[in-house]
Amino acid sequence: MIPRKNAGRASPFFLMVLAFGFFLATYNLLTLVMHKADKSETDTKELNDPIVSRPNELRKGGGAKFHVAVTATDGVYNKWQCRIMYYWYKKMKEVPGSDMGGFTRVLHSGKPDNLMEEMPTLVVDPLPEGLDQGYVVLNRPWAFVQWLEKATIEEDYILMAEPDHVFVNPLPNLAHGNHPAAFPFFYITPKEHEKIVRKYYPEEKGPVTNIDPIGNSPVIIKKSLLEKVAPTWMNVSLRMKNDPETDKVFGWVLEMYGYAVASALHGVRHILRKDFMLQPPWDLEVGNKFIIHYTYGCDYNMKGELTYGKIGEWRFDKRSHLSGPPPRNISLPPPGVPESVIRLVKAVNEASANIPNWDTL
Ligand SMILES: *[C@@H]1O[C@H](CO)[C@@H](O)[C@H](O)[C@H]1NC(C)=O
Ligand SMILES: *[C@@H]1O[C@H](CO)[C@@H](O)[C@H](O)[C@H]1NC(C)=O
Repeated sequence: MIPRKNAGRASPFFLMVLAFGFFLATYNLLTLVMHKADKSETDTKELNDPIVSRPNELRKGGGAKFHVAVTATDGVYNKWQCRIMYYWYKKMKEVPGSDMGGFTRVLHSGKPDNLMEEMPTLVVDPLPEGLDQGYVVLNRPWAFVQWLEKATIEEDYILMAEPDHVFVNPLPNLAHGNHPAAFPFFYITPKEHEKIVRKYYPEEKGPVTNIDPIGNSPVIIKKSLLEKVAPTWMNVSLRMKNDPETDKVFGWVLEMYGYAVASALHGVRHILRKDFMLQPPWDLEVGNKFIIHYTYGCDYNMKGELTYGKIGEWRFDKRSHLSGPPPRNISLPPPGVPESVIRLVKAVNEASANIPNWDTL
């Protein structure tokens, strides 16, 4: 279904991954080379601008189209989320103001699954056994590297999305030329981890404040830039994972730091958009924001009070549905619960009601 080019080219890279151990020794040389490459290949003047933050700039669509790419495994837990996500992609794509183009689920389980017919999917290889050390998200950069090599992508821009993203407003292209757009995460703080970050972002590259407080998703980025950043992202993430100190300090957000550092190594600065995404239950209203990210559990008592950390009498938590999809027609939360949570449940219900074989697939 997906047109391919260079379909056979993944394997040399695969071997490069295996040769990763040797890479550590040559890293200094490599950064020197990348440093040079940046100077010659990109418009350094534009990319070296101080951080461009246009949080209130209105974008009403009409921009360059971007391809929506979501990386996923073939686990049921990922599948039901992808189905909901794809439903809302199709719906929001048609709303005026959207710059959404095509869609690809980049399936990094190495083999097709039973959603191939339901949504455009490209199968890529997982990391070689053991390399992720059980940290599955390390597969993401490798999945993007393979996808960019194998697929013919019509659009010049790419949105890196995740299965637990629900589009709640038509998403315009928030990027600006060579400046990608990203959501700032309060817990990504390169400055507070200068000693560790410097292992991957040498001083000659500049201050650690060049590293944006972001992860790879959600990000809308020019395809030609992602083609440069993705392999570095993979290398940096693997090096971080293999360094016990880094692994311990960064923990579950290691791969986010991997992207933040890798993009900075290429001189890329992101436009930080707080309105890119909202995260119930902490963000209370959808408003003009674009994506609901339902990574946190929503637990409430019947008075509509948040009981976070304690299982609520009413709850919606994606982690309650690890081995099968949530039921259709989840009951709406009690009165007093924030609008963002109500919208989330309604979005999940609308998708599950309209997706054939929702609970039998
Ligand atoms: C990634 O690492 C491999 C070796 O494992 C190396 O050949 C390749 O050039 C590196 N790529 C980048 C962009 O750092
Ligand atoms: C969903 O559940 C509510 C009760 O919680 C019920 O009133 C309603 O008819 C149900 N809707 C559908 C489509 O099953």
